[in-house]
Amino acid sequence: MAWKVGGAMALLLVVFGMTGTAALGPDPDRPTWRRAYRAPVEIPFPDDNPYTQAKAELGRKLFFDPILSGDYSRACVSCHVPDLGWSDGRSRALSRHDGVMDLRTPTLLNLAWQERLGWDGKFRDLETVAFLPITATGNMNLSTAEALRRLSADATYAEAFAKAFADPEITQDRVEDALATFERLIVSGPAPFDRWIAGDESALDAAAQRGFDLFNGKARCASCHSGWSFTDGSFHDIGTATGTDIGRGRFFPKSPALRYAFKTPGLRSVAERAPYMHDGSLPTLEAVIDLYDRGGIERPSRSPDIRPLGLTGSEKADLIAFLRTLSAAPGAVPAMADFSPVAPLPPSAR
Ligand code: HEC
Ligand code: HEC
Repeated sequence: MAWKVGGAMALLLVVFGMTGTAALGPDPDRPTWRRAYRAPVEIPFPDDNPYTQAKAELGRKLFFDPILSGDYSRACVSCHVPDLGWSDGRSRALSRHDGVMDLRTPTLLNLAWQERLGWDGKFRDLETVAFLPITATGNMNLSTAEALRRLSADATYAEAFAKAFADPEITQDRVEDALATFERLIVSGPAPFDRWIAGDESALDAAAQRGFDLFNGKARCASCHSGWSFTDGSFHDIGTATGTDIGRGRFFPKSPALRYAFKTPGLRSVAERAPYMHDGSLPTLEAVIDLYDRGGIERPSRSPDIRPLGLTGSEKADLIAFLRTLSAAPGAVPAMADFSPVAPLPPSAR
């Protein structure tokens, strides 16, 4: 699918034809469910930071460049790795001081559509997050002043900022705008699931189709993992965290339902980015399904949509078969070495 960029918040939705020729014995609600998963074709950009190709290219250069870490040892891409579903394959992010952070690195896929960022929703938007890892002493450990001094002293950056902002001055705001513009282009590639949603019945085998019915029906996954990127953008206690790891509850101590609540992660490319959960506590998709089947820790904050599911062994396997269809086919996603998400602007957005 070709992604269009530009435009304000307006999303053009593809109107896929439904063929209605489902496999034998599908859930009667399947056609209705399928309609809820059509992908948008246009990436939304905020009015105060609209898309331009020059800004996106500058953002990409910054994202991959260790110039933004104190000792030149890390870049954003050190943890948000394209080949690992834009996460890092670790249960907790690696701190600069020999040790690990409290949280696992989340994927950066499809964040253009997400309102609140961070596992507990503490970040307002992509612009706000951009500089935080740079100045964090346990992470990239570079002061704002030094970051701007280094970039200003580099002739290729001076030129790139001049091109992106029609003015050569390098400021924190501009670094943030460029990184955020690049990050909005990190969109999941077309997966077998999308072909199926578009009407190609052969794109999902029978097990994955049964898994889709379970996902939307008996297992209630879609009550939180909703829509084409599989998240409601909201926060729930699914019965994982314990102790002082209370997630969004930190900001809303008077709201019992937000105790132990974390952001619902999107599930695109989920098979490529084990381990799972905000604390990397579950090593495999099998372990995730077992957790949901058990219903997690029972407590007042646990979401009413989480309770023991009574899944059979083959139902668990069907759910996993379905989750695997959310990854783009091998080869459809470029390897990191030739990664270049900055597609030419389609004519309609010029
Ligand atoms: C050491 C690993 C590491 C590096 C380097 C790093 N990040 Fe992250 N990133 C994380 C972790 C861990 C979180 C989760 C933070 C939280 O939820 O509080 C995160 C969260 C984010 C989020 C929010 C994602 C979401 O789903 O809510 C964005 C956006 C982001 N990082 C962008 C960047 C950018 C841009 C850079 C480079 C300037 C960067 N990161 C560098 C580990 C890293
Ligand atoms: C009540 C809302 C809710 C329901 C229902 C729900 N989830 Fe989740 N899911 C979440 C939240 C919130 C997280 C993150 C929890 C955390 O980090 O501790 C999550 C995490 C996950 C993850 C890990 C993703 C990652 O990147 O770490 C997978 C996989 C997943 N869910 C699949 C499912 C499946 C399959 C079902 C149905 C059996 C389901 N979920 C039902 C809210 C929900």
